[in-house]
Amino acid sequence: MASLGLSPAGAQAPCPYPSSAPVIIRFLLVLLCASFAAAAANGSCTWQGWKDAPGDASQWHIRVDPSGQSGTFTTVQSAIDAVPENNNHWFCIYVKEGTYREKVQIPKNKPFIILKGRGKRNTEIVWDDHETVAQSPTFTSSADNIVVKSISFRNSYNNPVNENPKVPAAAAMIRGDKSYFYRVGFSGLQDTLWDVEGRHYFKRCTIQGAVDFIFGGGQSIYEGCAISVLGNALPGLSGFITAQGRENEQDTDGFVFKNCNVFGSGSAKLGRPWRGYARVLFYHSNFTDVVDPKGWDAWSFVGREYQLTFVEYGCYGPGADTSKRVSWERKLDDSSVQQMTSLSYVDSEGWIDRTPF
Ligand SMILES: *[C@@H]1O[C@H](CO)[C@@H](O)[C@H](O)[C@H]1NC(C)=O
Ligand SMILES: *[C@@H]1O[C@H](CO)[C@@H](O)[C@H](O)[C@H]1NC(C)=O
Repeated sequence: MASLGLSPAGAQAPCPYPSSAPVIIRFLLVLLCASFAAAAANGSCTWQGWKDAPGDASQWHIRVDPSGQSGTFTTVQSAIDAVPENNNHWFCIYVKEGTYREKVQIPKNKPFIILKGRGKRNTEIVWDDHETVAQSPTFTSSADNIVVKSISFRNSYNNPVNENPKVPAAAAMIRGDKSYFYRVGFSGLQDTLWDVEGRHYFKRCTIQGAVDFIFGGGQSIYEGCAISVLGNALPGLSGFITAQGRENEQDTDGFVFKNCNVFGSGSAKLGRPWRGYARVLFYHSNFTDVVDPKGWDAWSFVGREYQLTFVEYGCYGPGADTSKRVSWERKLDDSSVQQMTSLSYVDSEGWIDRTPF
């Protein structure tokens, strides 16, 4: 177990605002701190520490190593617990390779965490809760401004496919705003990734499951992701990749899959609506014949299909033949497609560029 001297006071140290100072000095300090924060944001999170980050990086850097090497934590959660509440600069939590059998939660009051592993095949966090979908996630991220890289989350209750009853059991639940996942794996069977709400960018991730395995009301772009269907778990039935949760016509949420690969065993529809205005766009994605020729299902919104926005645009591969699709699949005009597939759909203010990378 580590002793890192991570005190809330230490965390605040880089940006002191002495209230006794004259206004102009305080103003200059604020500017200085703002530029300091911007500079720090360009560092990169490594096992050794922050690369190219100014200041006392030891305060902002935590290592997790299951062997308990000195100066490290042995669990991911204990490392997150060591981050001060309401911290306002990036913390690098570097997680050594290994299988971590624990549930991990980033609470709402711990923003600015970068959780980085040594590759999604090497650093894996596994648990098997399945009482309710809300109780089940192996990883729950509730804070804004979170970056996760090169790590995998699995709910092992039904993954790998086994003899257990098939129930909703999430690998991850993401409910903060401004969250970026790069080369992250999510493995489960039903309800694998609960993309609850907020703006999220998933790049080069792998998401595996069979039923509603990407679901929720997030406003998200999945770019260059592998969507892996475990259809052999449902002999004779077709699964569902998405169950999007847009509730009103004015809501801006929706799932966009851009340049993704959809493959796997058995068969799955691209989605069904969890809520009445569900919106899902598959754009320039590669479908094997794992995609059910009907494409989509109206679930409990039969008769209100006109409310749904389920779209394919420029997809290719054997599963992309739309001749047998449901008649109500939507066509979007080019400018709406352009608006939803541009990074500004999830990032109009540049938060992705400012994350440490
Ligand atoms: C950080 O990155 C941004 C965007 O790439 C760049 O404009 C800025 O100059 C960089 N800041 C530092 C301190 O390197
Ligand atoms: C499309 O997917 C198939 C099957 O996974 C793969 O063999 C093929 O190379 C992919 N095509 C492109 C252009 O990526």
